[in-house]
Amino acid sequence: MMFRMKRESWGSRLGFILAVSGSAIGLANIWRFPHLVGQYGGAAFVLVYLIFLILLGFPLLVGEISIGRNTSKSPAASFRQLGGKGWGAVGGLTIITGFIVSGFYSAVAGWIVGYLFESLQGNLTNFTTVTEAKEYFEGWMSSPWKTLGAQALFLGMATLILFYGVRKGIERANKILMPLLFFLLFFLFVYGLSLPRSNEAMKFLWNPDWTALTPAAILAALGQAFFTLSLGQGTMVTYGSYTPKSENLIFSCLPIVVMDTIVSLVAAGTIFTILFSVGSEGESGEALLFHTLPFVFSEIPFGFLFAPLFFLLVMLAALTSEVSALEPTVAFLMDRFGWSRKKAVAAAAAGAFLIGVPCALSPNVLSHIQPFGHSILSGLVTLGSDILIPIGGLSAALLIGWRWKGKRFIEEVSTGSKELFHKTKWLKPYLIFCVKFIAPVLIGIVLIQAFVT
Ligand code: ALA
Repeated sequence: MMFRMKRESWGSRLGFILAVSGSAIGLANIWRFPHLVGQYGGAAFVLVYLIFLILLGFPLLVGEISIGRNTSKSPAASFRQLGGKGWGAVGGLTIITGFIVSGFYSAVAGWIVGYLFESLQGNLTNFTTVTEAKEYFEGWMSSPWKTLGAQALFLGMATLILFYGVRKGIERANKILMPLLFFLLFFLFVYGLSLPRSNEAMKFLWNPDWTALTPAAILAALGQAFFTLSLGQGTMVTYGSYTPKSENLIFSCLPIVVMDTIVSLVAAGTIFTILFSVGSEGESGEALLFHTLPFVFSEIPFGFLFAPLFFLLVMLAALTSEVSALEPTVAFLMDRFGWSRKKAVAAAAAGAFLIGVPCALSPNVLSHIQPFGHSILSGLVTLGSDILIPIGGLSAALLIGWRWKGKRFIEEVSTGSKELFHKTKWLKPYLIFCVKFIAPVLIGIVLIQAFVT
């Protein structure tokens, strides 16, 4: 049974664009993208990544938002309405995926919150070697109270935003936090450019090294294009369900993808100019943010000021993404059981906390538990990002391209942008071809690779 309460909607186009951008711009932009660019050949990687955004990211973003807008329902009910009975379960799986993401994301974002507090206390700017910074991080991670407390605090902030609803909570928070994030990033980027060796850093990043463009690099670019746009996890379908029919989806999705890409590129520039200034070329994964950067902040002028600004920037990016990963579950509980928003948010956040607890404890008290050779955290990240998210994206592509059918999909997208489709003749075949053929093939390759490895 479905409860039909009056559905909330975004208050303005800007609100919609910022909310979707807030979902898209997250840890993947400011943490993962820079190290991928550094590792996989700079501009060569960026070029492949941009191609995937055009062939897969943008069309599927428009597609997922259209599904939600057409039905004004949360993903399980949307998929069922457009695809038929069995598709409800597939839509349900995307909600579960977002829910799992919100659990592990909260644990990892907790480290950022913890390091924001550490930097505010001046504890991150006294290192004389990277090893010292590494040992400090290991000490911080060994405390279950710290990892759990930081996770709870982070989830508490996301819960507070969600309590206030779509317009007064999600939209308003993004209208405040996203400009703040852009400002902080720009400020840190300019600072990075002013440091010694910034030219070398930029050359290192933007000179293409084609030899680094291995199959692994291409798959990483594909996965990144997908994860950064929060596809395959129920988020964009849910955000689409709050979008008015008058919205021109092409005109609003384009700046979202552009903004997301600019943030990734500027974040890469910022991190590498800061690293190069002390002669470091960076590391990947945790080491980049929690070992190398704190050491660098100890060396550079005004590091005590820039360290908290940097961790604040990363936390803001993660917070707006966390909100969006939880919202599909909230919308589902409200639609399916007729719960009030507050009750649904409390239940979703409590569930995310429970999933996040073993993740937050996996570097300390649960470190001995290593299913399939992974820590609990990395196991869940792999399950969510490498398997469930691609499955979610593949099912959205198949639903749109083969079940709902291209014609009805285009009808939905062109509501609010008829003239654009009339004038831009290639738009329709481009969207249909990408969603129907290119997306399933590319995501299929990612999935096969994930299962093989
Ligand atoms: N899109 C979010 C990110 O990039 C989940 O981190």
